[in-house]
Amino acid sequence: MKTLLIVYHTGGVKTAKMAEAVERGARSESGVNVVVKRCAEAGPDDVLAADGLILGTPENFGYMSGMMKDFLERVFYPCEGKVNGRPWALFVSAGQDGSGAVGSAERIVAGLRLEKKAEALICLRDLTPEVLSKCEELGAAFATGLALGVF
Ligand SMILES: Cc1cc2nc3c(=O)[nH]c(=O)nc-3n(C[C@H](O)[C@H](O)[C@H](O)COP(=O)(O)O)c2cc1C
Repeated sequence: MKTLLIVYHTGGVKTAKMAEAVERGARSESGVNVVVKRCAEAGPDDVLAADGLILGTPENFGYMSGMMKDFLERVFYPCEGKVNGRPWALFVSAGQDGSGAVGSAERIVAGLRLEKKAEALICLRDLTPEVLSKCEELGAAFATGLALGVF
């Protein structure tokens, strides 16, 4: 069975709620093992064991959160060259922008040679039912892609 790893950081609640919705969607696909971890709990072994990766971060000071950067710093060299071509996606929660978090995360993950499977999902301001639905759809579509082996 394929494994989907969801790694996120939240400084409050928004990104956590988005992560819950992504997880809910992913678990609707029974053919995939879904693992969810906070950045601080996740490391290279989790990434190496996963067939696909979904990252979630708030935008802080025009960048991904410090905890997400710490996670990527810890996994980068142990995983470099060992995860080429595996699928990944990103969700971001932001007050008014989000592009800095997206750009910074995408630049680093590009170095791991993961393959982006969806445009980054950005939640600006309030977390609406529409955004949560999109998060669920992201999780479900990603898990289905993994289960069917189309990624
Ligand atoms: C220290 C700090 C810096 C922030 N910087 C930005 C920023 O540069 N751009 C932006 O759009 N929102 C910024 N925000 C707002 C957060 O991205 C937004 O509130 C986000 O939804 C928080 O998610 P969370 O509840 O999961 O922590 C910042 C918030 C904090 C606390």
